[in-house]
Amino acid sequence: MKKAALITGASSGIGAATAIEFSRNGYFIYLMGRNKERLQDVALKCRSGASIVSCDMTDEAALQKRLNEVLNAKIHRVEVLVNNAGIFETHNFTESTDELWKRQMEMNFFVPVRVARAFFPYFKELGGGSIVNVSSTLGLRPTVNTGAYSASKAALINWTQSLALEGGAHNIRVNAVCPGIVDTPIHSFHSLEESAKKQALEKMKPLQPLGRIGTSEDIARTIYFLGSEQSSWTTGAVMAVDGGINLS
Ligand SMILES: NC(=O)c1ccc[n+]([C@@H]2O[C@H](COP(=O)([O-])OP(=O)(O)OC[C@H]3O[C@@H](n4cnc5c(N)ncnc54)[C@H](OP(=O)(O)O)[C@@H]3O)[C@@H](O)[C@H]2O)c1
Repeated sequence: MKKAALITGASSGIGAATAIEFSRNGYFIYLMGRNKERLQDVALKCRSGASIVSCDMTDEAALQKRLNEVLNAKIHRVEVLVNNAGIFETHNFTESTDELWKRQMEMNFFVPVRVARAFFPYFKELGGGSIVNVSSTLGLRPTVNTGAYSASKAALINWTQSLALEGGAHNIRVNAVCPGIVDTPIHSFHSLEESAKKQALEKMKPLQPLGRIGTSEDIARTIYFLGSEQSSWTTGAVMAVDGGINLS
């Protein structure tokens, strides 16, 4: 059986780059997301083979069904789960609604918990596995107007470490990556017209000691390291990949 990885949020940005990185290293990829057309584009770039697993991950029943299809099929050895799908909404605290807080917690925290819970018995039977949770530097140190998102990503970090404790005895490794500012569609500046975007990027440059914002590939390489056997003795790690923004 071929080794495989399931990447959530694989239709765009960091998830798409991560799928391509694992594929370059010989993994069959299960691509999860909602947008089938974009998932198809990514699948074409995955030279080691890929299958599309599309659903709205906040629909609990649909999510469970799709995960069962992958894990019960036993066509490939799914050794890696990358919990990457997420949403980012800023807000003014006094005007923020319960709905916004619930949306952020649901997608950025409860969905990864549910996916990992579906994988745990599978990994135990397999004799091990690796989970990478994509958090954020905002989960380590929040900024103004990001309370709900930052809290959801902080919860993800804490839970990563508790799951690492639980998984150790079963050879299940659980790690987190905390990206800084990365140029993906999650940010409104991503889709600005060229000169406005250039201006926005210039403004953000000095925030990072390394003098630039990140690319999806910068993050994908670290996710690959933590997900693959390259980091076979690493669990419970929380790795910032942020051009040093967390120090500034
Ligand atoms: N970019 C940054 O600066 C940055 C910084 C720190 C952390 N992060 C984290 O990195 C992760 C990836 O973000 P990105 O920057 O690559 O953003 P992105 O390009 O907007 O990608 C987000 C992905 O999540 C998927 N997704 C969102 N809601 C979903 C739902 N209900 N069901 C299924 N899939 C859903 C999207 O798929 P569909 O569109 O197909 O639904 C998309 O593939 C997120 O967890 C984000 O919080 C990003």
